[in-house]
Amino acid sequence: MQNIERVYQFLDEAQTYYLATVDGDQPRVRPFGTILLYEGRLYIQTGKVKDVSKQLAANPKAEICAFKDGKWLRVAGELINDDDRAVKVAMLEKMPSLKAMYDPDDGNTQVLYFKNATATFSSFTEAPETVTF
Ligand SMILES: Cc1cc2nc3c(=O)[nH]c(=O)nc-3n(C[C@H](O)[C@H](O)[C@H](O)COP(=O)(O)O)c2cc1C
Repeated sequence: MQNIERVYQFLDEAQTYYLATVDGDQPRVRPFGTILLYEGRLYIQTGKVKDVSKQLAANPKAEICAFKDGKWLRVAGELINDDDRAVKVAMLEKMPSLKAMYDPDDGNTQVLYFKNATATFSSFTEAPETVTF
């Protein structure tokens, strides 16, 4: 399995991860759950009206953390906006519950993908493993 596929699978199975952004000199963190592997890129979804979106527009550096089965994963990198409608459609198809709040053409739905990502799998019992994508 490719590195990015392993990262996707972990996040998908964990269901919830925590997304940290930078707001001036103040870190901000919140729970997220959207995750999609599309054409070799790892995407998350949000709404452009949210503070998290505005923070990423000002500074794309971000880190996410998820915990599952005694292991945790951190992914650090940049989250880059992608206006490709097909990705938004794929995201809403993968996570149909989003359709109650979002539509690909609503001007709010936003998908972003990780660029220059470093992912580290950790546990209390094994040495950390770092992969990049
Ligand atoms: C389990 C869980 C998963 C969530 N997943 C997302 C998500 O994938 N995208 C999103 O925009 N908001 C998601 N939210 C809601 C955000 O956490 C919430 O809107 C948060 O306030 C956004 O951060 P901000 O206030 O800094 O903009 C989720 C909330 C929970 C409890």
